[in-house]
Amino acid sequence: MTPEFRHLEIADTDAVVTLLQKVLPDDQPHNEPAAVLKLKMQTDKLSFVAIVDGTICGFVMAGFDGHRGWLYQLAVDPTRRRSGLATGLVRYATECLRALGCKKLNLQVRERNVEAESFYESLGFIKEPRTSMGKLVV
Ligand SMILES: CC(C)(COP(=O)(O)OP(=O)(O)OC[C@H]1O[C@@H](n2cnc3c(N)ncnc32)[C@H](O)[C@@H]1OP(=O)(O)O)[C@@H](O)C(=O)NCCC(=O)NCCS
Repeated sequence: MTPEFRHLEIADTDAVVTLLQKVLPDDQPHNEPAAVLKLKMQTDKLSFVAIVDGTICGFVMAGFDGHRGWLYQLAVDPTRRRSGLATGLVRYATECLRALGCKKLNLQVRERNVEAESFYESLGFIKEPRTSMGKLVV
């Protein structure tokens, strides 16, 4: 069946939480999906889902700073991988960001996540000489 790509809706929350817990079970406690989704939906509408046969099978969160778009937390159900779902989802998110005036996309991939690197390279992303920095502020 042809997948559908659309913005995240509040009613999708439970399904996306289940998907994220399945795909990213080792995520940091401060990334607890239900709390993150609630805050994100209060912030902007830049989260997207992929639906197959009425079931949410993919999710990606994005952001936009007025120039660059950012992609975060891309996840596809393990039973639905290698069928182009993440490709369609990232392309859909890209079009939404482009419509807002986005000129460039950035993202971070954890060290040793070679599958994600290969995926993003398949879409034309390249590694850039940047240093990623972070700090907990809680
Ligand atoms: C990375 C991920 C989102 C890819 O989802 P997907 O729907 O299977 O990706 P697609 O089917 O659109 O793949 C498109 C292309 O990306 C590349 N690719 C995807 N998964 C790959 C893998 N595991 N190994 C190598 N290349 C891969 C291939 O070139 C693939 O084309 P092909 O199937 O014709 O060879 C999925 O594996 C996933 O959810 N992984 C766990 C979460 C994660 O790491 N997210 C990224 C965080 S930055």
